Amino acid sequence: RLLVHRVVTIDGPAGAGKSTVARLLAERLGWRFLDTGAMYRVVTLAALRGEVALDDPEALDRLAARLEAAFPPGRALLGGEDVSQAIRDVAVTRASRFIADCAAVRARLVAWQRAFADAADVVTEGRDQGTVVFPDAARKFFVTASEVERARRRHRELQAKGSDTTFEAVLADQQARDARDASRAIAPMKPADDAETVDTTGLTIDQVVDLLHRKVLPSP
Ligand code: DC
Repeated sequence: RLLVHRVVTIDGPAGAGKSTVARLLAERLGWRFLDTGAMYRVVTLAALRGEVALDDPEALDRLAARLEAAFPPGRALLGGEDVSQAIRDVAVTRASRFIADCAAVRARLVAWQRAFADAADVVTEGRDQGTVVFPDAARKFFVTASEVERARRRHRELQAKGSDTTFEAVLADQQARDARDASRAIAPMKPADDAETVDTTGLTIDQVVDLLHRKVLPSP
């Protein structure tokens, strides 16, 4: 399958700052940014709202088939409603693994993701972008950070939103999610063979964006 547009993939565990980095890198390059986690989250939110059984793959597939979702830059829409905040709820984060485990839903989302890259140059972010969705991407990164640093970042974000979750709870949730993402039977989170691993522990967002930008477009 031939890629007409340029694709940079950024995969890695939760809390590594992938989303922010991918969005800023896309802005700098003038490319589109694709947050594939948001797609899994929108399906999850729709399932929770529609009381669709999370352990029923056929019901999930029917739901995904008729879903009216759109992803304008930085936002997520479900049936026209802006759900950008709602999809970040802890309940959605927790339930999202059922959607991520569903092969039929994954196939639909992969098709959406490829359609994005057919239309524009993209920086895409997720778990399986370099391994499954865009094996021929021009550049692939696996962005990570130490477990404690990732949990600290996430904890700070939640506190800023007024949540009183403890650091320990955030860390425990994250460890459970990492283990499930990495051991999933289908499209597990892992670096592609030709991906470059970037450890962002101790780096600021700007430093990471600079680093990736230099690697994507080396100055002459
Ligand atoms: O990156 P995130 O936390 O927004 O991801 C939400 C969920 O979707 C999480 O359970 C991992 C899953 N996911 C996935 O399986 N494949 C992707 N490409 C992106 C996310």
